[in-house]
Amino acid sequence: MMIKDLRNVSRVVLALDLTESKRYWDIMSELRGLVKIVKVSWVTLLTIGPDGLRKLISDNRDVYFLMDAKLADVGFINNVIAGKLKELGVHGIIVHGFIGKFNMPNVSGLDLLVLASMTSGGELYDVNFERMINIIKEINAAGAIIGGNKPDLIRRARSYLGNDYVILSPGIGAQGVKPGCAIAHGADFEIVGRAIYESSNVRESFIKIEEESRRARCT
Ligand code: XMP
Repeated sequence: MMIKDLRNVSRVVLALDLTESKRYWDIMSELRGLVKIVKVSWVTLLTIGPDGLRKLISDNRDVYFLMDAKLADVGFINNVIAGKLKELGVHGIIVHGFIGKFNMPNVSGLDLLVLASMTSGGELYDVNFERMINIIKEINAAGAIIGGNKPDLIRRARSYLGNDYVILSPGIGAQGVKPGCAIAHGADFEIVGRAIYESSNVRESFIKIEEESRRARCT
């Protein structure tokens, strides 16, 4: 499964940063058939462990799993970590863009998503934005992560990258960006965590946010 091929399938990437193991399975079961892409993180790995993550993935075979590893080590270590994550069944990983192109991991069949701009802070990123985006092309990564509250950067990235690369935007919902807004500016996917998993009706919230994201409107 490659993330590029999921653009027409779903616009929402569900971020699961849950600190109670059972909730991963409860939420996935509530969203069965709806959720197509799940972003897991260090919170996930520290909560359910590597074996738990392997099981979560194998229990949800139709779902694309993106590990927000935010890797930022030297290349050979990044490669070892990326390889181990792939062994667990993960389909893609997020790496920090500031490490530069020679430190980027390269594991066949594993999507690489490069963090290019953060929703808060990360000011060192934005002064090097063009270089960051160029790296994505040079290493042929799957795409970029760019904060949903930075519409100008999303637009710039889209015009540099064309349609061969995906753009994922966090900051939607709980952090104030309206669902549909990042897509309206050129993102392919909106990363949504708490606005879905902390809501009183997870299934309804997912359906509503997915609809709004698909509408791709910012008003
Ligand atoms: P919420 O609950 O705010 O979760 O929808 C956001 C998810 O996105 C991850 N992430 C980021 N969040 N700025 C953010 O606000 C960023 O630059 C960023 N990059 C990734 C975050 O870790 C959480 O899983």
